[in-house]
Amino acid sequence: MRTSVRQLATPAIAPSILTADFGRLRSQIQEAEAAGVELIHLDVMDGQFVPNISFGPLVVSAVREATNLPIDVHLMIATPENFIDAFAEAGADMISFHTEATPHVHRTLQQIRNHDIAAGLALNPATSLTATGEVLDLLDFVLLMTVNPGFGGQAFIPEMLDKIGRLREMIDARNLEDGKRPLIEVDGGIKRETIRPAFDAGAELFVCGSSVFSEKHHVSEGVSALRSALSS
Ligand code: DX5
Ligand code: ZN
Repeated sequence: MRTSVRQLATPAIAPSILTADFGRLRSQIQEAEAAGVELIHLDVMDGQFVPNISFGPLVVSAVREATNLPIDVHLMIATPENFIDAFAEAGADMISFHTEATPHVHRTLQQIRNHDIAAGLALNPATSLTATGEVLDLLDFVLLMTVNPGFGGQAFIPEMLDKIGRLREMIDARNLEDGKRPLIEVDGGIKRETIRPAFDAGAELFVCGSSVFSEKHHVSEGVSALRSALSS
């Protein structure tokens, strides 16, 4: 039985497989699931919107086969509207795309929601929160980039803490009921030193790449370091 994003307990840890060992992707996902993560984050890059290429719907289908956890697909691609259907059919439970990547943000959000899955809007570090205000009612989550998109292992941009706080205030000011309030997801440079400040600023979903999947530590050690930082 797949868990819906609205049933997620927060704060939630969403490991990004970008720094995982792709030769044993299935077991890496299962190690993360055994360590108690709430969802899996998949970074799709096209070499055009960002200067890197990762993977497409086939890998999303393979991850879908490997886990019942919610799958959070982060599209870092140009014209995302051309690919929403393929990623939804591959098994995504949540899809976000970048507001900078299409002039048709409203239509693309509707396209995601038509698949009965969660819709998110992603914002680069330099992109104003104003972009979200007009479509807040269509959003299940907002993904704030806390690094420039394209690569794992980059340092958290400290100025983003203030932006998280301003988004928290903007959402809370709407006084929406629980099920209608978009969640705040942060992505990039989230590790034991940065997860707690981001949580205190108002973030609820934490994308963690190299702090979970790394040659330097076991997946379960990475996840427990993040959990203890959150509860410290
Ligand atoms: C960056 C991706 C992130 C990335 C995070 O473009 O969107 O999801 O994998 O990796 P870390 O946690 O290592 O910064
Ligand atoms: Zn991501």
